[in-house]
Amino acid sequence: MKIAVAGGTGAVGSLVVEEARARGHEAVALARSAGVDLTTGRGLDTALEGVAVVVDTSSVQTQSAKASTEFFTTATRMLHHAELQAGVGHHLALSIVGADRAPHDYYAGKRAQELLVAEGPVPWTLLRATQFHEFAPQMLARLGFGPLALAPTMRTQPIAAREVAEHLVTLAEQGPSGEVAPLAGPREENLARMMRAHDRAAGRRRAVLEIALPGPFGRALRDGTILTGPDAVLGRQSFDEWLAERAPGR
Ligand SMILES: NC(=O)c1ccc[n+]([C@@H]2O[C@H](COP(=O)([O-])OP(=O)(O)OC[C@H]3O[C@@H](n4cnc5c(N)ncnc54)[C@H](OP(=O)(O)O)[C@@H]3O)[C@@H](O)[C@H]2O)c1
Repeated sequence: MKIAVAGGTGAVGSLVVEEARARGHEAVALARSAGVDLTTGRGLDTALEGVAVVVDTSSVQTQSAKASTEFFTTATRMLHHAELQAGVGHHLALSIVGADRAPHDYYAGKRAQELLVAEGPVPWTLLRATQFHEFAPQMLARLGFGPLALAPTMRTQPIAAREVAEHLVTLAEQGPSGEVAPLAGPREENLARMMRAHDRAAGRRRAVLEIALPGPFGRALRDGTILTGPDAVLGRQSFDEWLAERAPGR
């Protein structure tokens, strides 16, 4: 089967490409660095020739609800349009646990994406996952300031991006399934502790200061809104196991 991975050069998307190829599928990445722009449609028609399923793992780095909504709605509409032209029969989108309950900041765009996918013209699957273990280094890169890094107070049950990628390829193989059970890691963690542990493993000793973000989004991060319920599928690898497996400094 030929699988196109929107955001196929990103943290989880690159692992979806790897996993699809390991299972004998043909996989192409849709990303600006691969000549495809999801916000303008550049390169999309050619890239989707012969594709059976599009797995959307694209993302934008913003905390603005407006910018996030603009990106995810434009990219989803562009993908739908090109999928119809190319005869793609399955649109599989990756969203975040809590996007339907905490529609603020970045999550507003994810919620808008979810609604468009469910109402869209292409048979679909929607998977919500919790934060990836890779979220810790992503936050250190975004919120590290010299000897200091900031960590929003956050209840999270993170999962290895590799396990999310494996699950996405299985869902791609299964065909359109609508909204499926959410995916989370094996145990709840504290983001500040994850960031400190990641720094220590990389030989850094930054002070990681935990801050309670104000407003409804900050509250949602703290009160369990972005955790899964009992219906979740749980991954196997804990954050500490994932960290131990990685080379220091990566
Ligand atoms: N990170 C998490 O903890 C987490 C948890 C749950 C769900 N998710 C969801 O998983 C998805 C992937 O997250 P991630 O952290 O793996 O993302 P990421 O590493 O930031 O990767 C983003 C990808 O999107 C591509 N992209 C950005 N703008 C584009 C454009 N205009 N046209 C084409 N491609 C574009 C990037 O490639 P180029 O820059 O080359 O274009 C890159 O391949 C997101 O939808 C996110 O909401 C993430």
